[in-house]
Amino acid sequence: MVEALKEIFSAYEGEKGAVIPILQKVQAKLGFLSPEAIGDIASFLDTSSNEIFGVATFYSQFRFTRPGRHTVHVCLGTACHVKGGGTILETVEKEIGVEAGGTTGDYKFSLERVACFGSCALAPVVVIDKDVFGRVTTSKIKETLKNYD
Ligand code: FES
Repeated sequence: MVEALKEIFSAYEGEKGAVIPILQKVQAKLGFLSPEAIGDIASFLDTSSNEIFGVATFYSQFRFTRPGRHTVHVCLGTACHVKGGGTILETVEKEIGVEAGGTTGDYKFSLERVACFGSCALAPVVVIDKDVFGRVTTSKIKETLKNYD
């Protein structure tokens, strides 16, 4: 068993229906749901890995591959799209060498596209981890990415 999960499971003894909260806690702990973690969750809940995987894939919040140390979210909502969000996304893809939805081979960056951050006045917007960057330009985002290691 993944050692880090024992504590999570102990909080849910007798609550075998708590699939989603357990998946959320495991992902928060590990950063993603590995096949091994899914197997452990299945054992704990007396069900199959396929069952757990089936539930988890239903929700977009769960990820099944290891994320990068930093996650770059590029907004492609209407306001950001109009202000050049697509070009910003292409620039980031070229800079880090991975397409949206992917993670760099060195696990430095994961890249995600987002529908709207609710900061449309700052369009185009990029969020890296918890840092919000507004009125981003291609040169600005190239410089910003260099600040992450
Ligand atoms: S459309 Fe990008 S923040 Fe709203």
